[in-house]
Amino acid sequence: MSDIITLTINGTVQEVTLDDPRVTLLDLLRERLHLTGTKKGCDRGQCGACTILVDGRRINSCLALALSHDGAEITTIEGLSQGDALHPVQAAFIAHDGMQCGYCTPGQIMSAVGLIAEGQAGTDPERIREGMSGNLCRCAAYAGITRAVLAASE
Ligand code: FES
Repeated sequence: MSDIITLTINGTVQEVTLDDPRVTLLDLLRERLHLTGTKKGCDRGQCGACTILVDGRRINSCLALALSHDGAEITTIEGLSQGDALHPVQAAFIAHDGMQCGYCTPGQIMSAVGLIAEGQAGTDPERIREGMSGNLCRCAAYAGITRAVLAASE
Protein backbone atom coordinates (compact mmCIF):
# COMPACT_ATOMS: atom_id res chain seq x y z
CA MET A 1 0.00 0.00 0.00
CA SER A 2 1.32 3.45 -0.82
CA ASP A 3 0.64 6.82 0.77
CA ILE A 4 0.29 10.19 -0.92
CA ILE A 5 1.60 13.27 0.85
CA THR A 6 1.67 16.90 -0.19
CA LEU A 7 4.77 18.98 0.38
CA THR A 8 5.63 22.54 -0.52
CA ILE A 9 9.24 22.34 -1.61
CA ASN A 10 11.06 25.59 -2.31
CA GLY A 11 7.73 27.24 -2.96
CA THR A 12 6.28 24.57 -5.25
CA VAL A 13 3.45 22.34 -4.07
CA GLN A 14 4.09 18.72 -4.92
CA GLU A 15 2.16 15.52 -4.35
CA VAL A 16 4.45 12.61 -3.67
CA THR A 17 3.53 8.94 -3.59
CA LEU A 18 5.41 6.98 -0.95
CA ASP A 19 5.72 3.28 -1.64
CA ASP A 20 7.68 2.77 1.57
CA PRO A 21 6.54 4.47 4.79
CA ARG A 22 10.14 4.34 6.07
CA VAL A 23 11.57 6.73 3.46
CA THR A 24 13.25 9.76 5.00
CA LEU A 25 12.93 13.32 3.79
CA LEU A 26 16.62 13.15 2.86
CA ASP A 27 16.18 10.15 0.58
CA LEU A 28 12.97 11.56 -0.85
CA LEU A 29 14.67 14.85 -1.72
CA ARG A 30 17.82 13.31 -3.17
CA GLU A 31 16.64 10.12 -4.83
CA ARG A 32 13.06 10.85 -5.85
CA LEU A 33 13.07 14.58 -6.41
CA HIS A 34 16.74 14.89 -7.50
CA LEU A 35 17.43 17.78 -5.13
CA THR A 36 20.95 16.60 -4.46
CA GLY A 37 22.17 19.82 -2.86
CA THR A 38 21.13 18.31 0.47
CA LYS A 39 23.97 15.95 1.37
CA LYS A 40 24.06 12.57 3.05
CA GLY A 41 26.96 12.28 5.44
CA CYS A 42 26.38 9.99 8.40
CA ASP A 43 22.67 9.19 7.79
CA ARG A 44 22.20 9.00 11.54
CA GLY A 45 21.79 12.54 12.83
CA GLN A 46 25.38 13.24 13.75
CA CYS A 47 26.89 15.45 11.05
CA GLY A 48 24.30 18.00 9.90
CA ALA A 49 25.13 17.63 6.19
CA CYS A 50 21.45 16.92 5.53
CA THR A 51 20.10 20.05 7.25
CA ILE A 52 16.98 21.55 5.67
CA LEU A 53 14.27 23.88 6.92
CA VAL A 54 10.86 22.41 7.67
CA ASP A 55 8.26 25.08 8.39
CA GLY A 56 11.20 27.41 8.99
CA ARG A 57 12.96 25.22 11.56
CA ARG A 58 16.28 23.42 11.08
CA ILE A 59 16.14 19.65 11.04
CA ASN A 60 18.36 16.74 10.10
CA SER A 61 16.42 15.35 7.16
CA CYS A 62 18.03 11.91 7.56
CA LEU A 63 16.09 11.50 10.81
CA ALA A 64 12.73 12.71 9.48
CA LEU A 65 10.20 10.36 7.97
CA ALA A 66 8.60 11.89 4.89
CA LEU A 67 5.26 10.37 5.87
CA SER A 68 5.25 12.39 9.09
CA HIS A 69 5.57 15.65 7.19
CA ASP A 70 2.43 15.72 5.08
CA GLY A 71 1.58 19.39 4.46
CA ALA A 72 5.02 20.68 5.48
CA GLU A 73 6.84 23.56 3.87
CA ILE A 74 10.38 22.56 3.03
CA THR A 75 13.31 24.73 2.04
CA THR A 76 16.49 23.21 0.68
CA ILE A 77 19.72 24.83 -0.46
CA GLU A 78 18.26 24.93 -4.00
CA GLY A 79 15.51 27.24 -2.76
CA LEU A 80 17.67 29.97 -1.25
CA SER A 81 18.89 32.03 -4.20
CA GLN A 82 16.58 34.22 -6.24
CA GLY A 83 17.64 33.60 -9.82
CA ASP A 84 21.26 34.71 -10.05
CA ALA A 85 21.09 36.56 -6.73
CA LEU A 86 22.59 34.57 -3.88
CA HIS A 87 20.96 34.51 -0.48
CA PRO A 88 22.91 36.80 1.90
CA VAL A 89 24.12 33.76 3.88
CA GLN A 90 25.44 32.13 0.70
CA ALA A 91 27.22 35.36 -0.23
CA ALA A 92 28.70 35.62 3.27
CA PHE A 93 30.09 32.06 3.09
CA ILE A 94 31.89 32.99 -0.14
CA ALA A 95 33.12 36.36 1.15
CA HIS A 96 34.45 34.88 4.41
CA ASP A 97 35.84 31.55 3.15
CA GLY A 98 33.25 29.55 5.07
CA MET A 99 34.16 26.33 3.29
CA GLN A 100 36.97 24.14 2.11
CA CYS A 101 35.94 20.95 0.27
CA GLY A 102 32.32 22.10 0.21
CA TYR A 103 30.56 18.85 1.09
CA CYS A 104 29.10 20.12 4.36
CA THR A 105 28.43 23.61 3.00
CA PRO A 106 24.74 23.23 2.02
CA GLY A 107 23.97 21.91 5.50
CA GLN A 108 26.07 24.64 7.11
CA ILE A 109 24.28 27.32 5.13
CA MET A 110 20.80 25.94 5.84
CA SER A 111 21.67 25.70 9.50
CA ALA A 112 22.95 29.29 9.50
CA VAL A 113 19.78 30.52 7.77
CA GLY A 114 17.70 28.75 10.42
CA LEU A 115 19.86 30.01 13.27
CA ILE A 116 19.56 33.61 12.10
CA ALA A 117 15.79 33.25 11.55
CA GLU A 118 15.46 31.89 15.09
CA GLY A 119 17.18 35.05 16.35
CA GLN A 120 19.85 32.87 17.92
CA ALA A 121 22.90 34.01 15.95
CA GLY A 122 23.60 37.35 17.64
CA THR A 123 27.01 38.96 17.45
CA ASP A 124 28.90 36.64 19.77
CA PRO A 125 31.15 34.15 17.93
CA GLU A 126 30.89 31.71 20.83
CA ARG A 127 27.11 31.72 20.60
CA ILE A 128 27.30 31.13 16.85
CA ARG A 129 29.69 28.21 17.34
CA GLU A 130 27.26 26.74 19.86
CA GLY A 131 24.30 27.30 17.55
CA MET A 132 26.13 25.67 14.64
CA SER A 133 27.55 22.79 16.69
CA GLY A 134 25.28 20.24 15.01
CA ASN A 135 27.06 20.83 11.71
CA LEU A 136 30.42 19.16 11.41
CA CYS A 137 33.14 20.15 8.94
CA ARG A 138 35.84 17.54 8.39
CA CYS A 139 38.09 20.21 6.86
CA ALA A 140 37.67 22.21 10.08
CA ALA A 141 36.77 25.44 8.29
CA TYR A 142 35.05 26.57 11.46
CA ALA A 143 36.75 29.96 11.71
CA GLY A 144 35.49 30.99 8.25
CA ILE A 145 32.05 29.51 8.91
CA THR A 146 31.74 31.50 12.13
CA ARG A 147 32.90 34.69 10.39
CA ALA A 148 30.35 34.12 7.62
CA VAL A 149 27.45 33.56 10.02
CA LEU A 150 28.53 36.57 12.05
CA ALA A 151 28.60 38.76 8.92
CA ALA A 152 25.26 37.44 7.67
CA SER A 153 23.56 38.02 11.00
CA GLU A 154 24.56 41.68 11.22
FE1 FES B 1 21.88 13.56 8.50
FE2 FES B 1 24.50 13.30 8.97
S1 FES B 1 23.39 12.83 7.14
S2 FES B 1 23.01 14.25 10.24
